[in-house]
Amino acid sequence: MSRLSVLLSPLIFLCLFTPFTHASPSTTISEWNVPKSRHLPLLRSALQRESFNGEESDLWAPLADQGWKPCLASVNAPLPQKSEGYLQVFLDGGLNQQRMGICDAVAVAKILNATLVIPHLEVNPVWQDSSSFMDIFDVDHFINVLKDDIRIVKELPEEFSWSTREYYATAIRATRVKRAPVHASANWYLENVLPVLESYGIAAISPFSHRLTFDNLPSEIQQLRCKVIFKALVFVPHIRALGDALVHRLRYPKGQSQAMSTDYLRETTDRIGEQKPRKFVVLHLRFDKDMAAHSACDFGGGKAEKLALAKYRQTIWQGRVLNSRFTDEELRSQGRCPLTPEEIGLLLGALGFDNNTRLYLASHKVYGGEAKISTLRELFPLMEDKKSLASSEERVRIKGKASSLAAVDYYVGMHSDIFISASPGNMHNALVGHRTFKNMKTIRPNMGLLGPLFLNKSITWSEFRQAVVEGHQNRHGQLRLRKPKQSIYTYPAPDCMCHA
Ligand SMILES: *[C@@H]1O[C@H](CO)[C@@H](O)[C@H](O)[C@H]1NC(C)=O
Ligand SMILES: *[C@@H]1O[C@H](CO)[C@@H](O)[C@H](O)[C@H]1NC(C)=O
Ligand SMILES: *[C@@H]1O[C@H](CO)[C@@H](O)[C@H](O)[C@H]1NC(C)=O
Repeated sequence: MSRLSVLLSPLIFLCLFTPFTHASPSTTISEWNVPKSRHLPLLRSALQRESFNGEESDLWAPLADQGWKPCLASVNAPLPQKSEGYLQVFLDGGLNQQRMGICDAVAVAKILNATLVIPHLEVNPVWQDSSSFMDIFDVDHFINVLKDDIRIVKELPEEFSWSTREYYATAIRATRVKRAPVHASANWYLENVLPVLESYGIAAISPFSHRLTFDNLPSEIQQLRCKVIFKALVFVPHIRALGDALVHRLRYPKGQSQAMSTDYLRETTDRIGEQKPRKFVVLHLRFDKDMAAHSACDFGGGKAEKLALAKYRQTIWQGRVLNSRFTDEELRSQGRCPLTPEEIGLLLGALGFDNNTRLYLASHKVYGGEAKISTLRELFPLMEDKKSLASSEERVRIKGKASSLAAVDYYVGMHSDIFISASPGNMHNALVGHRTFKNMKTIRPNMGLLGPLFLNKSITWSEFRQAVVEGHQNRHGQLRLRKPKQSIYTYPAPDCMCHA
């Protein structure tokens, strides 16, 4: 699992402060061929599948109580009399990697008795989003929730204003901590960063992603991390308002009551009570070129697509993609390929979701465009996304901003009856962890089962369905305890949850 998620997050290998020479090779027209169905016999049957019991079936029922509840320390170690200095971190990666980095930064500030400077979010080379912390997260809420745990400042005081990204980018600096090992211990910080704080009054750690261990930390530090990720980090009001509007439109679809008003705030309060709320599934589909190329799998787009992805791999990773040593069939039989939109559609159909299911597609850019999701749309005609549910005026503040778009999807994902992801990446792990904390249903595709099933060209729809249902019985959100080395953000129990 953790190896897969690393494989699927190639961006964590890009170092901070390297010049961004990562321009995407331009997409040629020919790689956008309409992909052929790779599973035509299954697809034909799936399209004719009968309706189940609709939203009354067990499939949609909330998770039963599993005997665990959120558990965060109510009494914290008090704020130290004096701060040891300012802690600055620079965070790369996408939204979810940055969220984890923020939580780790709070924990490290606590370990060091330092004052945390609101983390700097790097511009991501692939997604090109220059949003700051305050553009995405409610900074006053963040500071307020953590006020009894650590000191936080929005900006450095005048005397330290020289400590900027530009300052560290141009020369070796004594206040920069550059070699924090991956998953460093609390002691490592006490031995290596505390002296910098003591000498200079400030330490800037970069890179900082994945730089704090998940094991052998005091429970108060673990619970502080959970408090940050599940409580202190909330999105700015305009992102939450748009998210609420999308959720409301999924629950109360238009056409079943009066025409949709563009004033979503009023609409949210007006229409409740007229209609029974509908249930919906959020499907996270990360299927961008970066990931398609990195997986080295064949996605059915023919020769042009294969060449385009190989060229992309060469340009970005100079052939250092481990998976490309294997054939597509080898990768698939081991369940190492992200599910295609068609495959995730077949999986949902086999699990029992019928064509009346409301599906919200949480996705940034689908490699190959609308053609790649046409099969999924055929299976689930009531599929929606940000664009189909909200006008461009409503989306103007998030337009073109990858992190804000992801934040809206995250928010809708946290308000859905069911969440499922087509590939085990950072977004998947983040939602799995957060929904575990709140005991919400989350389906985890059994990649090891699905790989061989999809390779089996003689399997019938009913055999496929039976194998899928059996192979997912324990994958609907049943709580799994964290094992050593696993992330506390994906597995919040037992560190941040206790027996109810
Ligand atoms: C932080 O403060 C606490 C409480 O004041 C103290 O016990 C601890 O030794 C301090 N740690 C560091 C690294 O200064
Ligand atoms: C679902 O499928 C049934 C028959 O298989 C069809 O009658 C119905 O119109 C479909 N519903 C939608 C929303 O496409
Ligand atoms: C394909 O599935 C069928 C039905 O489950 C099974 O009998 C057969 O052995 C499978 N073939 C392979 C190559 O796994």
